[in-house]
Amino acid sequence: RPPLRVALAGIGVVGCGVVRLLEANRELIARRAGRAIEIVALSARDRHKDRGVDLSAYRWEDDMGALVTADDVDVVVEMVGGADGPALTLARAALGAGKALVTANKAMIAHHGLDLARLAEARDTPLKYEAAVAGGIPVIKALREGASANQIARVYGILNGTCNYILTLMERERASFADALAAAQAEGYAEADPTFDVDGIDAAHKLSILAALCFGTKLDIGAVTATGIRGLIAADIREAEALGHRVRLIGMAERDETGLYQHVQPCLVPADHPLAYVPGALNAVVAEGNFVGRLFFEGAGAGAGPTASAIVADIIDIARDEYGPAFAMPVDALDRAATADAGAR
Ligand code: NDP
Ligand code: HSE
Repeated sequence: RPPLRVALAGIGVVGCGVVRLLEANRELIARRAGRAIEIVALSARDRHKDRGVDLSAYRWEDDMGALVTADDVDVVVEMVGGADGPALTLARAALGAGKALVTANKAMIAHHGLDLARLAEARDTPLKYEAAVAGGIPVIKALREGASANQIARVYGILNGTCNYILTLMERERASFADALAAAQAEGYAEADPTFDVDGIDAAHKLSILAALCFGTKLDIGAVTATGIRGLIAADIREAEALGHRVRLIGMAERDETGLYQHVQPCLVPADHPLAYVPGALNAVVAEGNFVGRLFFEGAGAGAGPTASAIVADIIDIARDEYGPAFAMPVDALDRAATADAGAR
């Protein structure tokens, strides 16, 4: 089969990781994808920035829109960030033009995922976002496909690597909140605006995506309540320890007969609970299905390598023509399910 031609938008922490991974594992990826995967073009703000990776072999476009209009691009990979602005413009243009879209952008998916899925379905083109939730853990695929036969009672976990890294440094190294946040930023874990991490907004974006997948509902970021870890001080961590607990930022979505509840908040987790053992920038996701039982996924939730791993897995799925609807079911079916739910209440 002819190579799959990929354009990368945003060459920061994640974008550089994708270039490195596609170069380092080129042969293995081509064998598994059944065809070569070639980067044909790149775009970011500053073409002269030293990114620590040699990009001279690739065409550079100052205008991101040119990645969509180019005839030699099959897949656009969005790694710019932001719910709206250039990322959303690019995503809409790419799907509208019938190109496949891969994105790491949970803010954009949480706010505009349904509209993007409608565009993708109208053009019968893939919309993939494995990297948007829990970094390198293939949790979207696992829940959307592997657990799709189950009724899920609840899904919860540690969904923000930056916060978990901060809490771990405060616990283990007695670091101050400010120093720990600076260290997370230096590692490339934090969002461009770290307020999204420490105020629980990033975890809320991810939780809303998981809830939509697990409960077969429409994304509803407005229904998520979020409290972050900004107010925590060393004494809170010590007191939790004294009580035999650890502080973790937990996102939980739970459905009962009265509705679907989605919350992100710092929680006291018993020190012998599996979530208390998740250190650093790792994430963990727990889902409870009525036939599969309890599923526990753990892995790197942030950082260049793990995030690139998830993005390239999406690209490989596209190369193999293996993709379904972006969420639990096609958007029309989600609309009908929402109407039926409202009628039942
Ligand atoms: P960075 O800030 O490191 O990179 C962002 C890239 O986008 C940069 O190359 C930047 O260009 C480019 N960019 C930003 N604004 C514009 C614009 N207006 N026009 C053109 N290019 C622009 O972010 P990350 O790589 O960390 O994150 C990218 C996405 O991946 C985000 O959606 C983030 O939430 C998501 N993500 C990040 C993870 C992580 O661990 N970092 C993990 C999972 C998802 P330039 O370099 O020239 O300034
Ligand atoms: N800033 C995010 C985090 C990146 O720390 O979890 C991964 O989504």
